[in-house]
Amino acid sequence: MERIKIFKLLNSEVPADQVVIKGWIRTRRDSKAFSFIEMNDGSCLRSIQVIADNTLENYQDIRKLATGSAVAVTGKMVESQGKGQKWEIRADRVDIISFAPESYPLQKKRHTDEFLRTIAHLRPRTNKYGAAFRIRSELAYAIHKFFRDRGFKYLHSPIITGSDCEGAGELFRVTTLDWDNLPKKEGKADTAADFFGQETNLTVSGQLSAEMFALALGDVYTFGPTFRAENSNTRRHVAEFWMVEPEMAFCDLAGNMDFAEEMIRYLTAYTMKECKEDLELFAKFVDKKLMSVLENIASSDYIRLPYREAVEILNKAGKKFEYAVDYGKDLQTEHEQYLTEHHFKKPVIVYDYPKTIKPFYMRLNDDNETVGAMDVLVPGIGEIIGGSQREERLEVLQSRMKETGIAEENYWWYLDSRRFGTVPHSGFGLGFERLIMLLTGIRNIRDVIPFPRTPGSIEF
Ligand code: 4AD
Ligand code: MG
Repeated sequence: MERIKIFKLLNSEVPADQVVIKGWIRTRRDSKAFSFIEMNDGSCLRSIQVIADNTLENYQDIRKLATGSAVAVTGKMVESQGKGQKWEIRADRVDIISFAPESYPLQKKRHTDEFLRTIAHLRPRTNKYGAAFRIRSELAYAIHKFFRDRGFKYLHSPIITGSDCEGAGELFRVTTLDWDNLPKKEGKADTAADFFGQETNLTVSGQLSAEMFALALGDVYTFGPTFRAENSNTRRHVAEFWMVEPEMAFCDLAGNMDFAEEMIRYLTAYTMKECKEDLELFAKFVDKKLMSVLENIASSDYIRLPYREAVEILNKAGKKFEYAVDYGKDLQTEHEQYLTEHHFKKPVIVYDYPKTIKPFYMRLNDDNETVGAMDVLVPGIGEIIGGSQREERLEVLQSRMKETGIAEENYWWYLDSRRFGTVPHSGFGLGFERLIMLLTGIRNIRDVIPFPRTPGSIEF
């Protein structure tokens, strides 16, 4: 007989005389005549109760089943006496697949996030992390659906790259050179002898590829892993994270902001509708205000604020920030949070940043001083999206590259796109982990990615 997932079983309207479920034991309680077994198979948050009678032939073994053991149960669906649950199973047989001994680390009901981070390979078996990673999976689907419904094409941009999109130099080197015996040329590593005949790195963003494809397919997006060797040990940075990057031809900065807002609103509403049960866990145990936060993000109009005005607000805040606020300096997390959490109490899109703190590809404004950049800031997190209108004018782009010390010969292909049928275009990058943090109320980015990679720490 084919097994039925617990999710499907619990949602069925009519009982079945015989079903097979397979999963892991959460708890076992014994009485004289039978044992109650709470079983979970990961298909949903809820577990199902199994009643195993002492007349079952292997009942002595069933009484040895501890938390974490794997079993297959064949039995009859009966209406549950307990509240909050429609069905339970009266077992005809309990086949033991494997035992988990007492050394199984997840014995208690609650563990700290810090402890669970040390066993990232087991934590998805807890209610909280199971819920977080089910939401992560649903959101990935929702992202593809959002784009597909709007006629976007999905682009697989390369992971190994020869260029530094953000120009910030936070790159992980990719090489097959022998580090113990490095071939050298003029005192430096001889990159010509490396696998690709030049220096290569893991990508920090798929944007430059996406631009090339937007100028061919119109509207495209990438959704893949990106890598940054930033040495920042904060609760919102990891070295390997996933980014969603739409790129739209014939779209200006205002259109870009409209689209970013539409996307966050859509994904929030989608999660509230499709992940109700898992979200309730977070609203109950992680952030009591979660539902009103999500309501606000799904339905409010986002503030649009030029960088210059953001600096003025921060200077008038009468608050002592750790980092001083000055026109021409990048906003720090504390500034972003002040704006979105305290001042406006809703998402804020800051735009038109000084060109000196932004990458070469952003479109220069008529003031010659700011660029058409935009960052979306949200409560609890700060920056969740960074994007811009791109510089489509060849000469302006070339002079910006000169100013920022970027060699044209490495970007000849990028410049080609401005030579042949260039058009105004825009795009942005949404940090997928930061989105999950926003929607679950989880405060540490290490807890929304299956196996976090941070400075000095990597589990297999
Ligand atoms: O603002 P960023 O650096 O923008 C870009 O990379 C552009 N090329 C995107 C584009 O226009 N196509 O990064 C975009 C987002 C940030 O807003 C943040 O949410 C996330 O990526 N991000 C990180 N998330 C986790 N850990 C890190 N170290 C991150 N760095 C950026
Ligand atoms: Mg940014």
